[in-house]
Amino acid sequence: MAFFGKDEAQNRPREIELDRSRLPRHVAIIMDGNGRWAQKRGLPRTFGHKAGVEALREIIRHSDELGIEALTIYAFSTENWKRSAEEVGALMGLLLEYFTKELDELNEENVQIRILGDIDGMPAELDKQKSALHAAIERTKGNTGLKLCIALNYGGRQEIVRAARILAQQTAQGLISPEEIDMPRFESQLYTAGLPEVDFLIRTSGEIRLSNFLLYQLAYAEFYQTDILWPDFDRRAYDEALLAYTKRNRRFGGV
Ligand code: IPE
Ligand code: IPE
Ligand code: MG
Repeated sequence: MAFFGKDEAQNRPREIELDRSRLPRHVAIIMDGNGRWAQKRGLPRTFGHKAGVEALREIIRHSDELGIEALTIYAFSTENWKRSAEEVGALMGLLLEYFTKELDELNEENVQIRILGDIDGMPAELDKQKSALHAAIERTKGNTGLKLCIALNYGGRQEIVRAARILAQQTAQGLISPEEIDMPRFESQLYTAGLPEVDFLIRTSGEIRLSNFLLYQLAYAEFYQTDILWPDFDRRAYDEALLAYTKRNRRFGGV
């Protein structure tokens, strides 16, 4: 039975009805507020990250149920290395644990895992994590369900500069001419190549900034922000965000 419709008699909120024909094809999420969630409870920040992974599990599952084509989540930015070694280590450890524990189930659900970002550029101490990620990508690459894109060691500016450099190299080698560099060719060198346009960006925890996320790809995305801290962002909160999206009027510069 539906998750929120069943307890009407007990005055529980009804399940949100979403017009599936108006749902976004590609949702991106800045999962923010883990640290504050823990601090509010007098716990170390790493407890917030642990709770954050649980929230992520629910949101991945619900995206899959709703038939969303691609979900891109911001897991670790190129700037997050500024945090303490303890916090970075805990975050990476949780990620590895998540992948090893959930991989069978994700694979069974036909989920395709992709990484956006410079995983090979991560420090050598994280070799175990890197191999786990490469294995997850390899194992799920033929899957045709939800495309789960994990932005890890990801920076939007770095991604744009990297694409420019690749195209410059191809030009210098005489493989392409400068006139051939257009939007489709540029986009083919971004980490998101082949994915549908990002339609919808959600940021939790009340912050209203991009923090170097998908700078190129968000050109016409709809933004949604909520004060809910990421570990508390559940399927109901996600449905509310998606409901708001279904009511937006996207004009793309037209009328
Ligand atoms: C988001 O939560 C998770 C990552 C950045 C990996 P934060 O750790 O940024 O939590 P706050 O913003 O400090 O509360
Ligand atoms: C953005 O959150 C990065 C991730 C969610 C992974 P931050 O917490 O790092 O962003 P700022 O520092 O508040 O801008
Ligand atoms: Mg934060």
